[in-house]
Amino acid sequence: MVKGGKRLCGEVTVSGAKNAVVAVIPAAILVDGVCVVENVPNIKDVRVIVTILENMGAVAEFTDATTLTIDCRHVQKQTEPDALMRKMRASYYLLGALLGRFHSAKVTMPGGCCFGTRPIDQHIKGFEALGATVRQDSDVIVAEAERLVGTSIYLDTVSVGSTINIMLAAVLAEGVTVIENAAKEPHIVDLANFLNAMGANIKGAGTDAIKIKGVKRLSGGTYSIIPDQIEAGTFMVAAAATGGNVLVKNVIPKHMESISAKLVEIGAKVIEYDDSIRVEGSETLSPVNIKTQPYPGFPTDMQPQIVTLLSVANGISLVREGVWDNRFQYVGELLRMGANIRVDGKTAFVTGVDHLQGAPVRATDLRGGAGMVIAGLMAHGTTEITDVEHIDRGYEDLETKFKQLGADIHREND
Ligand code: EPZ
Repeated sequence: MVKGGKRLCGEVTVSGAKNAVVAVIPAAILVDGVCVVENVPNIKDVRVIVTILENMGAVAEFTDATTLTIDCRHVQKQTEPDALMRKMRASYYLLGALLGRFHSAKVTMPGGCCFGTRPIDQHIKGFEALGATVRQDSDVIVAEAERLVGTSIYLDTVSVGSTINIMLAAVLAEGVTVIENAAKEPHIVDLANFLNAMGANIKGAGTDAIKIKGVKRLSGGTYSIIPDQIEAGTFMVAAAATGGNVLVKNVIPKHMESISAKLVEIGAKVIEYDDSIRVEGSETLSPVNIKTQPYPGFPTDMQPQIVTLLSVANGISLVREGVWDNRFQYVGELLRMGANIRVDGKTAFVTGVDHLQGAPVRATDLRGGAGMVIAGLMAHGTTEITDVEHIDRGYEDLETKFKQLGADIHREND
């Protein structure tokens, strides 16, 4: 329940990156030792992936609120996939990790947010190029290999998931694997840094050519997850949306450049420090055009939040989705709040209105849900958001953090 109209002011600290940690935890399967992972966000996706690994024989323990110790030495080769895999997208990283470790993986087609078709052909192409055979029995994917041998793999589309999955499968393979046209997201670099800290030999992560020299063994160590780019962006947009003044702490400003640049175009003041960013909102918001793209472009995972902000800008903005087929489900909810948005295929034409009006709305997906929270903060009156479990998958204590910034927000019973 959000009562709008409060300017957000103060400081907020960003948690560890969801999309990095959901790759790093399965990557622990490849490690012959104990991994200590720091700056782990307390979100549902983490709890699910940890439980899946525990069900496979891993020993995992939170030694404090954000430090996860995970020992996968006694993980068993799987015979049947865990039903929990359907609950999250990142369970498909178990394919690469199990294939890399046991040369055999059996995983259920993953769940997660629904943005139209979410094919995994590039993951399969990568595994096959390394020497695996991959087959799909209804919704179960089975990958098997006698040997995994490094090779050059050109991705037909820039894909975060397949870049990560191929890295996982190739780390212990024989010889050298090169992933060309690789995705460059900060979480890809984070996974490579984690694996290298455990003894892998990966170069070029963060560029479009990643070179992985197979090693015989990874051993344990300590690694700290990067801050969450999208959580930081969500607070930055919320500050601008409420005409507030917020210091967003624990960020890597370089990761925020595309978001900062758009907020400045819209009219907000953005001040970068070493590891924090201050956003000051302005009275009038200018319309802007945005196309979401793979990193370093404007992230698709910030599209609902920025469209929500633009719904009260002074003119017409065009927002084109450049990654997913269908990521505008949440727009129907904004329309209930009085927004004027027309979606035509992959483009949203956002005509700014004077204000949004509180209404009962639904979190259609994780980031769409974050958009609804921002809408509620901006709106006149009260907004009731249902299906907030989507938000809990990827944001740690979102309402507590907003409350600390002065928002009038609370959670009805679970
Ligand atoms: C990751 O999804 C993120 N999820 C998504 O974040 C994010 O929206 C997306 O990357 C893009 O940045 C996780 O990291 C767990 P992709 P992923 O493979 O890996 C096509 C969030 O809100 N494609 O980069 O599944 C695909 O259809 C979530 O935190 C193929 O055609 O995305 C899409 O159009 C939602 N074949 C494009 O590539 C493939 O084999 C990018 O997908 C794989 C992908």
